[in-house]
This record gives sequence, C-alpha cells and structure tokens, in this order.
Amino acid sequence: MRGEEKPQVCVIGLGYIGLPTAAIIARANCPVTGVDVTESVVETINRGEIHIEEVDLDGLVRGVVQRGMLKASTEIVPADVFVIAVPTPFEKDGHHTPDTSYVMSAAAEVAGVLKKGDTIILESTSPVGTTEAMRELISGLRPDLKLPGKTDETPDVAIAYCPERVLPGKILEELTHNDRSIGGITPRCARKALAFYKRFVRGTCVTTDARSAEMTKLVENAYRDVNIAFANELSMISDEMDLDVWEVIKLANRHPRVNILQPGPGVGGHCIAVDPYFIIHGAPEQSPLIRTGREVNDAKMHHVVEQATKLIEANPGAPVACLGLAFKANIDDFRESPARFVAAKIARQFGERVKIVEPYAAELPREFESTGAELVDIDFALENCGILIVLVDHDIFKVVPAEERQHAIVYDTRGIWPDAQMKPSKPGLRLAS
Ligand SMILES: NC(=O)c1ccc[n+]([C@@H]2O[C@H](COP(=O)([O-])OP(=O)(O)OC[C@H]3O[C@@H](n4cnc5c(N)ncnc54)[C@H](O)[C@@H]3O)[C@@H](O)[C@H]2O)c1
Repeated sequence: MRGEEKPQVCVIGLGYIGLPTAAIIARANCPVTGVDVTESVVETINRGEIHIEEVDLDGLVRGVVQRGMLKASTEIVPADVFVIAVPTPFEKDGHHTPDTSYVMSAAAEVAGVLKKGDTIILESTSPVGTTEAMRELISGLRPDLKLPGKTDETPDVAIAYCPERVLPGKILEELTHNDRSIGGITPRCARKALAFYKRFVRGTCVTTDARSAEMTKLVENAYRDVNIAFANELSMISDEMDLDVWEVIKLANRHPRVNILQPGPGVGGHCIAVDPYFIIHGAPEQSPLIRTGREVNDAKMHHVVEQATKLIEANPGAPVACLGLAFKANIDDFRESPARFVAAKIARQFGERVKIVEPYAAELPREFESTGAELVDIDFALENCGILIVLVDHDIFKVVPAEERQHAIVYDTRGIWPDAQMKPSKPGLRLAS
C-alpha cells in the first residue's frame, strides 16, 4: 500500500474506545471493518445504531454505516491496519493482576489474516511489555513473517502501541484533537503507525518506543489517582477536624504553585481506578505511593457510606435520594463506580427509604434488586426526599436551584452546591442554605 492510498482498517473490540475510533477512521474515508465477539453489538452497529452512550456518536455511526465505510462483523477480516481496543481487566485472583488474555486472543485472530505490509496497533491500556508479548505470540503463530525486533532485515509488518486518553462524554472531540504518544517496537514501526494516525488525528503525535508508550498511559492515570487521593484524604481529615474541605482547598489553591484537585466519593471507572495496579504489579517494591493512593481512594468510598449512614440514622423516616450512579459526570458508564458502590450499600441498609436518581439509567443495576430501592427522577427526589446525597456531579444535578433543595439535608460528596453551608455538628455534611 502506498502512502496516498486509503488503508483498509480492522478495529477489534467495538466498545467505548473501539467504536468511536472505528467511526472516526471511517469518517476519514478509510474503509473500516469493526470486529466484536458480541453478536448483538455487531447487529446494532450494522443497523447504523449504537449500543453505548456518547455525545454525537449516534449520528456519526449512522452516517458512516449508511455510506458503507463502516461494517461490523464477528469475524476478523484481512486489512492493512489492525487496531486492537479490547478490554484489559484484572484477573479474578483478587490481587489486581492485569488480564491481557483479551489482547492476546485478539492478536492471535490478527495473526491468522496477517500479510506482509500490515500494521498492528494496540490501543488497550496494557502493562509494560504487552506489545512485545503480542509480537512474540504472533511470531510463534506466523513463523513465515519477519517481525520487528526479531530480524536484521526489513520486517514484514509493523507493531506499535498507541494508548487512548479520551474523556467519556467528549470522546469524538478528544480522539481527534488530543496529542498522542505512539510507541513502536522499532522506530520504523512508530513511523508506520504515525502515518496512520495522521489521517484522522489533529493533535500532535509524538513517537517513542512501545514500552515507554505503555508506561506513559499508566503513569497518566496513576498521577491522577495519587492527586485525587490527596484531595480525598484532605476531605476525610477535614471531616474529622470539622472543617469545610471545599473552603480549605479553594483557599490553598490561591497559592500560585498549588493546585489541589477536588475530592469525591472515591475513584471509579475502568481507567484511573485500574491502571495504577498495572504499575504496582510490574514493580511492587518500588510503588508504595501509588499503592497508597489506591488505598486512600478506596477508603473514601467506605468513609462516605459511614457518613451517609450516620446522617440517615439521625433522621429516621426521611426518604433518602442518592443522586447518581455513574463513575463520573454526564455519562452512562456505571463500571467500577464509587457512586454505585455507595448507593448500593445505602439501599441494602435502608431499603424502601432509598430513591436513586440516575438520568442515564433505564433501570437499576442488579445489586439493587430486592433492596426495595427505587429509580426516580430528580423532580420526584426534590419533592419527596428529606435527605439528598450527591454522589455524581451530573449537570442536571448542578443546576438545581437552592430553593428547590432548601427543605432537605444535603450530603454533597462532589461539592456541586457551593451555596450549601457546612453543618458544624455533622462534619462533612452540608445543609442547603
Ligand atoms: N473507556 C475509556 O474511557 C477508555 C479510555 C482509555 C483507555 N481505555 C482502554 O481501552 C480498552 C478498551 O476499553 P473499552 O472501554 O472500549 O472496553 P469495552 O468493554 O467498552 O469494549 C470492549 C469490546 O471488546 C469486545 N471484545 C472482547 N474481546 C474481544 C475479541 N477477542 N475480539 C473482538 N472483540 C472483543 C467486547 O465485546 C467489547 O464490546 C481497555 O484496555 C481500556 O482500559 C478505555
């Protein structure tokens, strides 16, 4: 394939990362086959519809499917560029061991159709060394191909790692405009991958080696986690000392070289709460700070449950509204969500008193079954609940005016209602003014 020709692209894994990526590549007029093991995902996309919530993704997918630029399939097809965006969860061993089996199984599928000239790019967040491990696997399956780093001759294929750093809710914008680190197994691999990303990325693409690119992604999220842990630890200290953490942080941030992040009910999602463990697993002795950051952020969830429990017990009979289940604002993703953890604990304890408000959920997750808790809308909660526990900073909650919540006792774990006053007798709890 020469530089000016449009490559045929195969994107493997059509979830929150793979589907928007496939759609954006298709929009750049490269024909894309999206591959997913889940048949319903494939059927939905081939109807021009989407199975995840993401701003503007529905129109984009509909358009590229109608133009014939994006097709979905459960079977891998030959292509010029393969982009792997499958999950990288933990193993079920209880030790937060990274599970790269999805990546390896996708790489094995690719090996089956790989030909000279192809480029394979891993986008899944991965422990350091995964791209090389993928190369080893392919090498074993395709001894007929010369692989990068394993031959003194020009290799037949290029293999690179290029992580995603998108923000759910802004994925399409950030996929296009964010800077990217592109790590090749060799510099030649990095250049091949760079040429591909240049077709649809407007941000600056910086090339490096695969291991550095893998570590860069993990470091970005470990950095966020440790800094949020600092804010969460301050919030627990402030609760103990009867201080308003929001006020303390606001004042401290007036220092020109201080920028403390905002506390919350914990840290969730499948990135910030997960990726630090990929570093810890690789260098357990050298990562006490990163490990402690994880522990502090997990402890914050339990702290919120305790504080909420005290508040609810102190106000017998008052209906309780838990505002939000998503792991962050304005998205429908409830995976690894501290809000969901806290709300489920409260629902199990207080049953029918508990109402859940989650504008992005059609029904409550399974763990709420038989708790008696009920999904309601924000208007119902404001009209009927005497206790409001803010767990997610969805825009729809932020805009609730003070007069509509002044009857209620508020426990605002996100600091979205700054007009609410600290209630000194209950550290960390705010009463609407
Ligand atoms: N979601 C995010 O915001 C985000 C951001 C940055 C990085 N990441 C990383 O991107 C990767 C993918 O995350 P996601 O959120 O898109 O996951 P996801 O669970 O939303 O989607 C993954 C998809 O891959 C499919 N799949 C699994 N194994 C497969 C296989 N062998 N062949 C084909 N399809 C397969 C699944 O059916 C699923 O539809 C993960 O490593 C994640 O850590 C995610």
